[in-house]
Amino acid sequence: MCGVIGYVGLGANPDFFFNGLKRLEYRGYDSAGIAMLTSDGTISVERAEGKLANLQSKLARLPAKATVGIGHTRWATHGRPTENNAHPHRSGDIVLLHNGIIENYRPLKEALMAKGYTFTSETDTEVAAHLLNAEYSALPASLPAFEKMQKAIYKTVAQLKGAFAFGILCTKTPDVLYAVRLGSPMVIGEGEGEYYMASGITALVEHTRRVMFLEDHEVAFLRSSGLTLTDFQGAPVKRDFQKVEWSVSMMEKGGYRHFMLKEIHEQPQAIAQTLQGRLEREAGRVNIVDYGAAALPLKSIDRLQIIACGTSFYSGLLAKFFIEKFARIPVEVDLASEYRYRVSTVTKNTLAVAVSQSGETMDTLQAIKFARSSGAFTLGVLNVPGSSIAVACHAESLIHAGPEIGVASTKAFSAQVTNLMMLGLALAQERETMKPNEIGQVIEELVKIPAFVEQCLGLSDAIEKLANKYHSERSILFIGRGPQWAVALEGALKLKELSYIHAEAYAAGELKHGPIALIDEDLTVVCLAPRDEYYEKTISNIEEIKARGGKILAVGTEGDKDLMALADDFIGVPPTSSIVSPFATTVPLHLLAYWIAVRKGTDVDQPRNLAKSVTVE
Ligand code: M6R
Repeated sequence: MCGVIGYVGLGANPDFFFNGLKRLEYRGYDSAGIAMLTSDGTISVERAEGKLANLQSKLARLPAKATVGIGHTRWATHGRPTENNAHPHRSGDIVLLHNGIIENYRPLKEALMAKGYTFTSETDTEVAAHLLNAEYSALPASLPAFEKMQKAIYKTVAQLKGAFAFGILCTKTPDVLYAVRLGSPMVIGEGEGEYYMASGITALVEHTRRVMFLEDHEVAFLRSSGLTLTDFQGAPVKRDFQKVEWSVSMMEKGGYRHFMLKEIHEQPQAIAQTLQGRLEREAGRVNIVDYGAAALPLKSIDRLQIIACGTSFYSGLLAKFFIEKFARIPVEVDLASEYRYRVSTVTKNTLAVAVSQSGETMDTLQAIKFARSSGAFTLGVLNVPGSSIAVACHAESLIHAGPEIGVASTKAFSAQVTNLMMLGLALAQERETMKPNEIGQVIEELVKIPAFVEQCLGLSDAIEKLANKYHSERSILFIGRGPQWAVALEGALKLKELSYIHAEAYAAGELKHGPIALIDEDLTVVCLAPRDEYYEKTISNIEEIKARGGKILAVGTEGDKDLMALADDFIGVPPTSSIVSPFATTVPLHLLAYWIAVRKGTDVDQPRNLAKSVTVE
């Protein structure tokens, strides 16, 4: 969580930092701040409580231009979202901002207070600012300021426990930007006579596409003339810049009212990009791994553990049905936040797959590290290039969905499921559980998905009308069977996070084991019942709801008169195969959550209390 931006060069104005923070606002949006340091060593800091827009009126108080500066948008962990708790924090000559959590901040704070440091915030970050200042001030005044800063940074990070990405300025070195990373993302961008730093490439691509991802235990010392990279002991590190493919237009709303709506509509393209270059249609073969492929022992894998959170967890649950079917291999899907609290049962033949859009989710990162240290082969199914989870895994497969800015994940879900289905096929081909012609048949279904999803997007207007009817519900139940159960879970999550309506999803067959007690005339149940192998049984469950007076909003196959007769409202998706069907039914649920949120007037792209990338446990 939290977005950080930084600049060093010939000169940047306040808008540079503000616009950079706007690109990162999805990472946190409860307070923000900017610090600018001019070449004469004058530092100006402006901070504001609440959304980034509140900082805008303060930009005029900042200098018109500065050689170096940093900005921050916060997702509160320690301390309420007030102006005092907003970053950057200042201590003497030092101004610092932080993404992450300093776990041992309490004893450090007490020691610093005993030394006479006064705290003006409730944050863990202020501890780092004072500690760095204490280390800096303890060094001989005769040393050059830059050398003092280097030494002080190494001494400071050696005392900190937790995760941190710091951006630091020192008034005595007005030509240097310091960037530090341990456990929280930090990207460096290279321009013409200038360098940038940010928590994500979304903030950089309008300035440069040449980026370098800092790794853990690294510090970058950035000057307009060049960059030095070292580890936390001061040993030099060498790494080249690489080119990223993301463009500015990918990060604009492109005429859509919200990023979420744009991203829902980008699903056909996202799925197509995931498939691109990975399928050999004629030969009936797939190849999904971008790096680490050679080492990936698909042939000897005898068990899969998919580890993820939130929507990525549901994409794993959905894919499980297909991977087991294709590869005849047991697939466990684990919530990352629970995974490492169990006794590890992995073997060298276990493939642990971390699924994450951001690649930074701390729960998933820690879980996959645990799986790797327990002996599993690890694969990251990820969207953002150069992420922490990618670094932690043996191998990576990017979903290529493009930047997802809306906090609610949509296109990443569909692209993840597509990617995992291909993983199932890759396993099937290595384990020889499917013949090439059978794999070829599935491939022919996979390539149809974008067009079907495109057709389902045409339901948007009808679903907007339904949202007018259902927006004032207090609670909505979702049911589905087989893969549709995972779709139901995803639909319920989307509804609650966007509209704050209580929503739960159950496997349709599970209803009679308890939740059916909730059914009365006031409860709406979204029933997923496309014409698939589970249809008849799901229909029986819908009858049970009907018999108890529940309201039924059914999502089924176009023209299904039986289902229409049972339902109060009906959303019809085109008839498809069982492989395409979950993608088709996902679209109406994403749209339903979207339009209900719009109708209720909630903040669609930045729902309350949430952040796009959750880098705390
Ligand atoms: O970046 P990740 O895929 O690892 O994120 C996992 C969850 O935090 C994320 O899917 C979250 O549940 C979304 N807000 C759901 O829309």
